[in-house]
Amino acid sequence: MEKFVIKGGRCLNGEVVISGAKNAAVGIIPAVILSDEPCILENVPDISDVSISLRILHEMGAKVQTLSRDTFRIDASGINNYCVPYESARQMRASYYFLGALLGKFNKARVSMPGGCPLGDRPIDQHLKAFSALGARCNLDHGMIDVSADNLKGSQIYLDVVSVGATMNAMLAAVKAKGLSVIENAAKEPHIVDLANFLNSMGADIMGAGTDVIKIRGVGYLRGTTYSVIPDQIEAGTFMVAAAATGGDVLIKNVIPKHLESISNKLEKIGVNVEEFDDSVRVWVDGPLVKTNIKTMPHPGFPTDMQPQMATLLTLAEGTSIITEGVWEQRFRYVDELRRMGADISVDGKVAVVEGTGCLQGAPVKACDLRAGAALIIAGLAASGVTEVEDIHHIERGYDNLDKKLQALGGDIIKKHFPGSSVRKAI
Ligand code: EPZ
Repeated sequence: MEKFVIKGGRCLNGEVVISGAKNAAVGIIPAVILSDEPCILENVPDISDVSISLRILHEMGAKVQTLSRDTFRIDASGINNYCVPYESARQMRASYYFLGALLGKFNKARVSMPGGCPLGDRPIDQHLKAFSALGARCNLDHGMIDVSADNLKGSQIYLDVVSVGATMNAMLAAVKAKGLSVIENAAKEPHIVDLANFLNSMGADIMGAGTDVIKIRGVGYLRGTTYSVIPDQIEAGTFMVAAAATGGDVLIKNVIPKHLESISNKLEKIGVNVEEFDDSVRVWVDGPLVKTNIKTMPHPGFPTDMQPQMATLLTLAEGTSIITEGVWEQRFRYVDELRRMGADISVDGKVAVVEGTGCLQGAPVKACDLRAGAALIIAGLAASGVTEVEDIHHIERGYDNLDKKLQALGGDIIKKHFPGSSVRKAI
């Protein structure tokens, strides 16, 4: 079993280059299926969700070539299998994008119910609503989702819930449907705009991505393209918080500052300095951290995927902060682990009250999901003493070489292999 072993108390200083966005890449990779020619994807993050997505494409008959560490040439013309194997699909949430892409290209798909971070109920009713609106039949069959259509016809799609996944899946299914589709109450995250830009670079006709109304005119043919994935807003935010939590001074490069606005504004309220440049932000601390309140919302609100990391930072601030989780039912499971490090946080449903204790102590902790793991690493870097983070596979699903990037900034973090099970040792 592998763990991150962290010796806390060192300030992070220097420069870090942000990788491509996980939540854009996991939508764009399946979207290659829609193309009738080979595509080249650049700035793809080296994370396990991407490896699984590329493996699924390969298993379905696509040709996947690695041109460099972050660049892949994918020729999906040889796909002859419309079923995404259970074992691959259930390892991540984003496997459901293969439903939209396969349906959009072949009018049929069979994908297992998705996996992903345990954040409470994670239904896919809105995805299926979108597919049905376009004329598809959707069935759940022994843990597999079957969708098929005689032909897909453009339609009005009203999402009852602002859903990133359903918005992206509706785009994938509609892009070759006959006629006009209009997605209303669409999510507006940067990765949705990135998927739309990717599809348009292949010759799709999508307008309005990034607003709550997206119009898609179906096209008959999608050509090959070369496309670079946008930088990861949440990885950048994670490094911003890590710099603040350790009292460091870090230049975070290859970012789109506009995507970081809600995070930068919140950090400045806490007393962190944030200086924006064209494609980088500098984060440093030269005074006390103070309490603030956070409510996570769909974009452009404060991103839910930054909530655990901010909770760690607020444990180090003076005063009482209130965090309200506005997207997921259960996104405070990491609080028990932070308490092992001395955090004073009480949780009632979707609200957490954080008493700033100003310090944390190193302890053995477990990552229960991707962003919780990032929050625990930040806590370990800021704490006094040694922290061991278990179940780091969650973290490696969505962060590209996080330990090496932190080491380069002066963080004392190493990945260690420990024989035996993951049963927590009594200490
Ligand atoms: C995406 O999940 C991200 N994952 C999540 O990031 C992120 O937290 C979330 O969007 C919100 O920004 C990927 O992009 C792979 P949703 P997704 O559909 O698409 C409800 C990370 O850390 N809902 O926007 O699954 C749902 O229960 C991960 O990178 C329905 O009711 O999220 C939730 O309350 C964690 N029916 C809300 O909508 C549906 O059919 C938002 O979910 C779909 C969603």
